[in-house]
Amino acid sequence: MSEPTTLPHAEEAEIEDIGSNPDPARPIGAIIAARYGRRAMLGAAAAAAAALVPDGPAPAQPQAPPPAHSSGNTPNGGPSTLAFPELRHQLAQGDAVAEGYEIQLLIRWGDPILADAPEFDVARQTAEAQARQFGYNCDYLDFFPLPRGSRSADHGLLWVNHEYTNTNLMFPGLGAGRAARARTNAEQVAVEIAAHGASVVEVRREADGRWRVVRDSRFNRRITGATPMRLSGPAAGHPRLRTHADPSGTRVLGTLNNCAGGRTPWGTVLTAEENFNFYFGGEAAESGPQRAHYRRYGIVREAVYGWGRFVDRFSLDKEPNEPNRFGWIVEVDPYDPESVPVKRTALGRFKHECCTMALCPDGRVAFYSGDDERFEYIYKFVTARPWNPDDRAANRDLLDEGTLYVGRFDDDGKVTWLPLVHGEGPLTAENGFHSQADVVIEARRAADLLGATPMDRPEDVEANPVTGRVYAMLTNNARRTAQQARGANPRANNIHGHVLEIIPPMAQGRPDHAATEMRWGLFLVAGAPGFDAGARYHRATSPNGWLSCPDNCTFDSKGRIWIATDGAPETSGVADGLYAADTTGHGRALTRLFYQAPTGAEVCGPCFTPDERTLFLAIQHPGEDPGSTFERPSTRWPDFREGVPPRPSVIAIVKKDGGVIGS
Ligand code: FEO
Ligand code: CA
Ligand code: CA
Ligand code: CA
Repeated sequence: MSEPTTLPHAEEAEIEDIGSNPDPARPIGAIIAARYGRRAMLGAAAAAAAALVPDGPAPAQPQAPPPAHSSGNTPNGGPSTLAFPELRHQLAQGDAVAEGYEIQLLIRWGDPILADAPEFDVARQTAEAQARQFGYNCDYLDFFPLPRGSRSADHGLLWVNHEYTNTNLMFPGLGAGRAARARTNAEQVAVEIAAHGASVVEVRREADGRWRVVRDSRFNRRITGATPMRLSGPAAGHPRLRTHADPSGTRVLGTLNNCAGGRTPWGTVLTAEENFNFYFGGEAAESGPQRAHYRRYGIVREAVYGWGRFVDRFSLDKEPNEPNRFGWIVEVDPYDPESVPVKRTALGRFKHECCTMALCPDGRVAFYSGDDERFEYIYKFVTARPWNPDDRAANRDLLDEGTLYVGRFDDDGKVTWLPLVHGEGPLTAENGFHSQADVVIEARRAADLLGATPMDRPEDVEANPVTGRVYAMLTNNARRTAQQARGANPRANNIHGHVLEIIPPMAQGRPDHAATEMRWGLFLVAGAPGFDAGARYHRATSPNGWLSCPDNCTFDSKGRIWIATDGAPETSGVADGLYAADTTGHGRALTRLFYQAPTGAEVCGPCFTPDERTLFLAIQHPGEDPGSTFERPSTRWPDFREGVPPRPSVIAIVKKDGGVIGS
């Protein structure tokens, strides 16, 4: 949207997770070896190498490092069904979309959404104003048609997560990077808490073809880091969830670090609390009775955000149980602005990236979720009962009963979903699990004991609605060693990540997401083909079509995958963006670059309207580059006005001829 300017680009490690799995060195191969002997393990590895998925991508042909291109678009090439002319890779202060498409700026951080909200004034930020304005760092998006139950594609409610805050880019005088967070005052912290959470905004495509927010809509809502919510499920009311402010253990203020999410078939949204550990700190992290548990969840003495200086509940020394009330999946009804959000503890507590649904043949509902940290796991939850399509209210507490599973990915291509059920296997009082509440609160430790497979940072995990195959974005893991590189995480020093494909068996002619055994294969291994070791795509993937660090994904009605990226290494010369590929047929795994983000930004929340003529994208943390400050940001996208810092925003992409995206 602006004149492109080449900039140095690097991941500032704002959301850097060092990993807290105590046994990441135990890939599944070690377990096979321990159980069946080394000969069996070698046999399994050889079998996996020989046959991944039957129609897996062909290895890319060796070629020179990707050349620079001088034109904005490259011609179509290869057998992809995606008709857009591919963008070129570049780093720029502005964003870009494939020729024939238009970027519409929909809403920015600070834009007023409630009736009594003031206009955005970066020099006069208050918590009261921020709680009525659009929040920071937009992530998961979902479109809920209006009226409810319709297939309206030009009028609806947009759900938007606000994951975290770039303190250094919000306020003047704080310097660069995460160190700025130690320099905030009480009012700035209050603004940051109000900038977290989520927004619901009514949106409409008007006669001129442009999308606009309906300001003052009765549906518009801000959910913040202080909004009252309820806890339900097996951990609700447990002593480990009780605090001075809430002796019942069932009421909590706010939701934090809402990354990706999902929706239910009954039209509620599921927002995922990811890096909740960043907000809590204190001496008790290292000396208190919960220190082992804190360590497993990355809660340390010095919190990334220093909110405990001003707000007691973020200090472990004052409220040692408060972190146990975060790290959950939160269900919200976007159609009812008065509804109380509910943290559904049955789905487990970890750094939830997402929570995406897949219907089982018998009417039960499965939800897939990644735990986004190095060497953490992939989970799924299956409801105990079928959902009721005829009675929305009957589904109100469906997520409180069901089975949480964690994935074990054997080298021979088998997936086993291991149940996290109190009393089964090692999940007993002997190991500190006295009830299902203990199991869900310490889901990571329970999964360790079950022998789950440590993965390369699982982000979005989502089922293809056409084929039923499930795709897991494994964003990267530079700490995987050569000894740990095997099977479903095949590459050491995996700086570019990969996409795993999980294939459920069929039951009654439909994919059975309730099954406890599935198969896995590699859909693609990211990085530049022929340049980065192990990169694997369709052989016709162009020098602009390769990607790095897959994060969120969605599918169109043709079953094609749209992959958003986050964190391409600075040495790659590639901005984060949105890529699309066929998942079946001759164009399988032939990724093509559709949208390129401004410098420092990742692309989140890809979301189509029901007619697929609009694609909403959340552009998160523009300007999050090393050395970037409020005064001298690396970009001022999208306003490009002196004195105004970059503003995380939601954009709508439409085809100029009004057609279907990607057609
Ligand atoms: Fe918030 Fe895993 O990205
Ligand atoms: Ca993410
Ligand atoms: Ca998704
Ligand atoms: Ca990410």
